[in-house]
Amino acid sequence: MPKIAVTGKGGVGKTTLASLLAYVYAERGANVLAIDVDPSPCLADALGFPKELTAELRPIAEMDELIYERTGAKPGTTGGYFKLNPRVDDLPDRFSVLHRGIRLLELGAVELGGSGCICPESAMLKTLITHLLVYRDDFLIMDMYAGVEHLGRATAGMVDAMIVVAEPGRRSLGTAEQIARLAHDIGIRDLYLVGNKMRNEADVAFLHAHSPGLPILGTLPVTAAAVEADLSGVPAYDAVPQLQAAAREIVAELDRLLEKE
Ligand SMILES: Nc1ncnc2c1ncn2[C@@H]1O[C@H](COP(=O)(O)OP(=O)(O)OP(=O)(O)O)[C@@H](O)[C@H]1O
Ligand SMILES: [Mg+2]
Repeated sequence: MPKIAVTGKGGVGKTTLASLLAYVYAERGANVLAIDVDPSPCLADALGFPKELTAELRPIAEMDELIYERTGAKPGTTGGYFKLNPRVDDLPDRFSVLHRGIRLLELGAVELGGSGCICPESAMLKTLITHLLVYRDDFLIMDMYAGVEHLGRATAGMVDAMIVVAEPGRRSLGTAEQIARLAHDIGIRDLYLVGNKMRNEADVAFLHAHSPGLPILGTLPVTAAAVEADLSGVPAYDAVPQLQAAAREIVAELDRLLEKE
């Protein structure tokens, strides 16, 4: 099952796309692990998870006691001794919630880049992500925050594909290009573009004309229904048939491209 990271400029629709892809795979019967790697998590809402279920959900990065227990050092401390390879195998099941075939885990603010701090929390989160990428046979989708500088080399090499989301605009595509360059530098080879909030064919043409050389997996139309769904806490997958259909096409294209390798 593919392991995918979704990135792009702020507000382009990373979380919306991650939620759509999670449902497409879940409906096929895959075990889906959705990982929210945003310091202010909102994938749970985009997935329309019930509040009773997500009430106890807390980003792993904020679990000071747990980090202390596993690494032997308090989060935020540097220089002292701590375990670089703490036990993490029990964490995904213990701290995630499951709904409609999708298991959701919140990581919180994660610094995975090589230049990041060498501290207990980053050691634990890196170990956890490596564990998720290597040892779990789920379809895995990571909803990242904007940029790729948070994604370290080791992790990047284990992701099957990174999807950059872009709107039809120069700024958003400029960010996509920057991400593409950084991603390339840290060794991510399978990088794809998805266009979101397309108003018409001209927008799609603009995206194709200004793509930073990335294969385009597909596009999602802009719809008022997506905003409505967001407001009412219903997943776009259920509320907006055009988005569901577009997400299926994106997955079909992704399957086709990953298969070719
Ligand atoms: N296809 C679409 N049509 C209309 N509105 C959309 C569409 N896709 C996303 N949106 C809206 O745009 C806003 C941002 O979407 P989303 O949260 O998915 O972006 P994001 O890239 O994850 O943002 P952030 O950078 O804050 O994490 C939301 O209000 C969402 O409902
Ligand atoms: Mg988001």
